[in-house]
Amino acid sequence: MASERRFFVGGNWKMNGTKKSVDEIIAFLTKEPLPADIDVVVSPPALYVPYVRDKLPKGIGVAAQNCYKETKGAFTGEISAEMIKDVGAEWVILGHSERRHKFGETDELIGEKVGHALNSGLKVIACIGELLSEREAGKTEEVIFKQMKFIADHVGGNWSSVVIAYEPVWAIGTGKTATPEQAQQVHVQLREWLKKNVSVDVAIQTRILYGGSVNAGNAADLGRQGDVDGFLVGGASLKPDFVTIIKAGHA
Ligand code: PGA
Repeated sequence: MASERRFFVGGNWKMNGTKKSVDEIIAFLTKEPLPADIDVVVSPPALYVPYVRDKLPKGIGVAAQNCYKETKGAFTGEISAEMIKDVGAEWVILGHSERRHKFGETDELIGEKVGHALNSGLKVIACIGELLSEREAGKTEEVIFKQMKFIADHVGGNWSSVVIAYEPVWAIGTGKTATPEQAQQVHVQLREWLKKNVSVDVAIQTRILYGGSVNAGNAADLGRQGDVDGFLVGGASLKPDFVTIIKAGHA
């Protein structure tokens, strides 16, 4: 991690949780103070967002896992950025690979959602990443740069409210983590892309997280890479291991 960027650890609970298990997660997150120099954001299913926001100290951020690109209206089943703000949460995850590949969200839609969420005053964890077949075909750069362009086109002057999460799809939920070198290589390419296509300042300041089977055993090695500014953690964010992963920001 480069010293000018605050380490950031996000926990994406996905479609997991009951009132009981949410209370258990809140208990291990609040057992002892978390490092003050690391940003921690957890992302419960939308139904639990207000509950978690009310229970956690303000120092821990809360994110929704998705939202739509309109403020309100006839969009059955959707929630808006304005609603997320209204219940006190600060962040939203957009473009997660499960939204892209299981629910067919396109680069265009994700870009529009990012723009709307930022304009509504939410901060965004914007996810990108290639499929295994794309990596094997040598298309990683092409795919992630295209995803980045659709996001960047909607960010405008709001880069300080954006965190990028590079999550190779083949590493998500598979137990197959990218090596620290593989992660670092792509993060450098992304930073170069930001430099060329946005600005040098944005390239230096924007946090780029790694996601995909991060666990208590591999977090420190990944986090030591100069361009890995934190993690987006799925499965392991439901367990006390998440606290070990957060502390890996100090490794
Ligand atoms: P995982 O998920 O840590 O369970 O691989 C990461 C993510 O989907 O953000």
